[in-house]
Amino acid sequence: MHSFKELVEIFSEKFNASHFPAQPATLYEPGNYFLNIGGKRIRPAACLMGNELFGEIHPNAYDVATAIELFHNFTLMHDDIMDKATLRRGQPTVHTKYNESTALLTGDVMMIVAYEYLARLDKNFLPRILQLFNKTAREVCEGQQLDMDFEQRNNVSLTEYIRMIELKTSVLLAASLQTGAILGGASEGNCHHVYEFGRNLGIAFQVQDDYLDAFGDPEKFGKEPGGDIRQNKKTFLLLHALEVADTPRKEKLLRLMQENPAGKVQQVLSIFRECNVDEWARNLKQQYLNQAHHHLEAVAVTSKRKIHLAQLADFLVAREH
Ligand code: IPE
Ligand code: IPE
Ligand code: MG
Ligand code: MG
Ligand code: MG
Repeated sequence: MHSFKELVEIFSEKFNASHFPAQPATLYEPGNYFLNIGGKRIRPAACLMGNELFGEIHPNAYDVATAIELFHNFTLMHDDIMDKATLRRGQPTVHTKYNESTALLTGDVMMIVAYEYLARLDKNFLPRILQLFNKTAREVCEGQQLDMDFEQRNNVSLTEYIRMIELKTSVLLAASLQTGAILGGASEGNCHHVYEFGRNLGIAFQVQDDYLDAFGDPEKFGKEPGGDIRQNKKTFLLLHALEVADTPRKEKLLRLMQENPAGKVQQVLSIFRECNVDEWARNLKQQYLNQAHHHLEAVAVTSKRKIHLAQLADFLVAREH
């Protein structure tokens, strides 16, 4: 069995070979650019970890892991257009460096290449994994649409927020782990707990992402700080602030969101701080992290096999980038 770090290395060695033909370079070079500027490779490593929970790595797991990482990168390229983000992984986003049409099309072709990897799977695994992959991909789109819809609304509830981040982020982590478990021959019950581990962990992961977007160290974070505030994203930070702020602060927040004045980010951040979003973030993360650990404990394999996943969970919610 391998640690997260070891599996990232094992995966990356295979993944770093090119996935695209040379021509037209205007389509494929931006894809290579994006794949080469970093990325933590959490999902493919999670797929391999879900697989190793039940035995040796199945050769098909590399194809699934590759498909998942390509799919993830495709969603990021389109997400950066939608979020008007200029920086990712400390480098210019694809639509900033090239242009929007290129970022759309390079993203599209990357998604198609992801399916080409899936098409390589053994016949006995293909239908089940494809079904899970498709369901997940569709849910990510649903989550991304809700994320945008919420930009226009000021009455989003915490329940709606959690559902939105579950769809846009956590189901992909859950599916990564579960495809690995499926390839490992896990029982239905074990597959369920592995998925639920990933789903709860993914929620905590996005909570941390939203926290870092506001309070992260820009050097480490690699994205433009305050992007969510600029876009009026209904993160838990904002929802919590709107809920607990006194009337003047609440009115100020609503005004800042509507008028987008210069200095908006700093002013919103001060209100967030005054509303103790820090403590709220820690609690929210911990709640989902605990749920994730419960499901991991419920997987019917010896606890020794779970050590690396338990460590991954703690690492993901404490991450700084
Ligand atoms: C970013 O995911 C998108 C979210 C779901 C928050 P990661 O933080 O895993 O991005 P990379 O691949 O490591 O850059
Ligand atoms: C992204 O959520 C989720 C997907 C890409 C599907 P965010 O918009 O918060 O991700 P970052 O912060 O840009 O990585
Ligand atoms: Mg984004
Ligand atoms: Mg987004
Ligand atoms: Mg984010």
